[in-house]
Amino acid sequence: MEVAETIAQVRSLVGAARGRGKKVGLVPTMGALHTGHVSLIEAAVNDCDFVVVSIFVNPTQFGPGEDLEAYPKPFEADLEICAKAGVDLVFAPAPEQMYPAQNLAWVTVERLTEPLCGRGRPIHFRGVTTVCTKLFNIVGPDVAYFGQKDAQQATVVKRMVADLNMPLEIVVCPTVREPSGLAVSSRNQYLSDRQREEAANIHKSLEECRRLIEAGETQAARIIAKVRAKLQEVPSMEIEYVDVVDAETLESLEKVSGRVLVAVAVRIGAARLIDNIVLETGG
Ligand code: PAJ
Repeated sequence: MEVAETIAQVRSLVGAARGRGKKVGLVPTMGALHTGHVSLIEAAVNDCDFVVVSIFVNPTQFGPGEDLEAYPKPFEADLEICAKAGVDLVFAPAPEQMYPAQNLAWVTVERLTEPLCGRGRPIHFRGVTTVCTKLFNIVGPDVAYFGQKDAQQATVVKRMVADLNMPLEIVVCPTVREPSGLAVSSRNQYLSDRQREEAANIHKSLEECRRLIEAGETQAARIIAKVRAKLQEVPSMEIEYVDVVDAETLESLEKVSGRVLVAVAVRIGAARLIDNIVLETGG
């Protein structure tokens, strides 16, 4: 496994692999790798001949007062995980490599970035789409892998690639969960043991919601109220949003129909956690 810190090194190594006819896969990450990331890497190793993992805590997607400085950076452990998983190249640039000057060019996706996490994190998706565009331009992958855990991010990136004719495929992999149902996340490290147990309630509330919809409930307001009530069983959990939206447009629904995304964001202590389920409903 090679580790590159510069764009020039990545271009040269990926160029050589491509010259040997290799299919190139990219897994963009911010490091603090866990089983969720590993599932994306495994999918890439399965489908591609040359797998690049980027590890970069992207400052432009963090708003003021967010956890940019606190974000965990266990770099050596990350490299070990990548090597074990069969990664060919880790790209771990310094911020100056990715943003050598004040950034004036941004990639934005309209509409899809406004609801859900966009409300509380107004510059977040602009940072994500800009850094993903940079990574796609630097690596030139045939396929890039994203997780369903960040459903809005996956939808936004897919739309960017489609609307801007970017020459790659986006693959979205299922959410990996702890045995308790809690979605695995780098930010779970901010939780105490007790908060970790409490955080399992997020998944329980979504599973209750699944049962409610499968039992025939169609009114979004009633579904949201049920999820909120279940979340509030943990008094320390602060709800940022619970929404029932169309899985493609991310627009709020009054009545569920078609492919529906139920998405939740909460705060427990220092951690902001998100989770979601997608349901195929009638109508
Ligand atoms: P990060 O939070 O490190 O996540 C990297 C990728 O791993 C994302 O596509 C995310 O959806 C996926 N992922 C995280 N937890 C997962 C889980 N439990 N199951 C499945 N996949 C999971 O998302 C980012 O970084 C950044 O925004 C990035 C795309 C790298 C741009 O900076």
